[in-house]
Amino acid sequence: MDYISTRNKSKSFKFQDVFIKGLADDGGLYIPKSLHKYSQNDLEGFKKLNYAELAKKIIYPFIDDFINEEHLSKIIDKSYSVFRKKDVVELVEVGDRSVLELFHGPTLAFKDIAMQLLGNFYEHYLDKANEKINIVVATSGDTGAAAIDAIKGKKNVNIFVLHPDNRVSPVQRKLMTTSNEKNVFNIAVNGNFDDCQNLVKAMFADKSFSGSINMSGVNSINWARIIAQSVYYFYTYLQTDNKKPINFSVPTGNFGDVYAGYLAKKMGLPINKLIVATNQNDILHRAISKGEYNVETVSETISPSMDIQIASNFERLIYDLNNHDDSKTASDMKDIKEKEKYNISKEKLKKINNDFLSSRMDEKEILKTIKDVYEKYKVVLDPHTAIGYGAFDKLDLDGNNIVLATAHPCKFPEAIEKAISLKSNLPKELMFILDEKEDYDMIDNNLEKIKKHIKARI
Ligand SMILES: Cc1ncc(COP(=O)(O)O)c(C=O)c1O
Repeated sequence: MDYISTRNKSKSFKFQDVFIKGLADDGGLYIPKSLHKYSQNDLEGFKKLNYAELAKKIIYPFIDDFINEEHLSKIIDKSYSVFRKKDVVELVEVGDRSVLELFHGPTLAFKDIAMQLLGNFYEHYLDKANEKINIVVATSGDTGAAAIDAIKGKKNVNIFVLHPDNRVSPVQRKLMTTSNEKNVFNIAVNGNFDDCQNLVKAMFADKSFSGSINMSGVNSINWARIIAQSVYYFYTYLQTDNKKPINFSVPTGNFGDVYAGYLAKKMGLPINKLIVATNQNDILHRAISKGEYNVETVSETISPSMDIQIASNFERLIYDLNNHDDSKTASDMKDIKEKEKYNISKEKLKKINNDFLSSRMDEKEILKTIKDVYEKYKVVLDPHTAIGYGAFDKLDLDGNNIVLATAHPCKFPEAIEKAISLKSNLPKELMFILDEKEDYDMIDNNLEKIKKHIKARI
């Protein structure tokens, strides 16, 4: 499959470039030139497949020039063998809707589902490439742990993870800092998540530095992550009664996970609505409900992984809204960067609302949802999932309503205790990390100091 950048469609790229580089040189995001489409008949045929088999079918057309089908099959089996559920995810009925549990991987968040695959894609690439790669990634807590677990111990690849000091939960930090592997380097930055993200962006933009360390990135704009995430939308549809319309509510920050659902829809999956569910950092809710995309300051919440104002993957939707006009997309993105604002016309908003609705929850509402769901159904939702769950109470949608459960509640024990006075424990397989020795370096929010630190370790 060939790919282009959202800011310049005259140049084609192969999956290998798209995966290793993450971001196009012109600053745009990679997207496929065309998509494989599935008919209702194809979907009926998929019903007999288990999760891994379905993943092979959906992912292969996107990466057919990177790997052969047999090898992909082995990689997918290996990647999903580390999950605690045989079929990777689990669909659980909670009241009048279903919760799609995506947190049964090694680091208890949906990110494992894509990241385990990416780890094995790097291994496949490095087997033939005879080079060494240094992955540098910023995290608000979950991405770092998932990426470390996927990369730890692999040959010819190091991973450097920047997290904001004191702003990730102790469980999130333990999951990152206890790997005890020589190719894993944790850096606690004296700043917030945006500072970490800006440091990584600045390192990528400094071509002489990024070239000299053969830098690669695994953040949520990486196309490989999006395609791996689109699989669970197909899987869920195939598990449900297809006679009713299906709606997905997706706790959203960077617009990556919900974009994966939109991708599935574009491939022919008959999704009715995708709900973009935000916390009080609600730029996407304001955009999708009123057409107002204005950047405001980020506030800290009990759903920290969604404390984001610039939703990077939104650029992929803007490209579609611009009817695939790359120059218009480039100029819109320049405007957003300069003016921190994007005006969505009525016509574009109508187009958006064909596929997306949105909802927002403040801190009180999140705690109340966790409490209500626990009292009624004895199910503990993590704060991110609660935002997705509550969205269906705000929007009246008939059909099969599915909530994506993006993290295990034990990753956010303070919020759970505040809501229902209950200690949410780690699964027993992971209890041991609580006593493990942690390994990380504290560094100032200073680009030169961080670059020097990385250079000294490769
Ligand atoms: C637990 C959790 N929920 C939801 C999200 C939001 O996902 P996305 O950034 O793809 O919209 C994240 C991402 O960081 C997360 O860690």
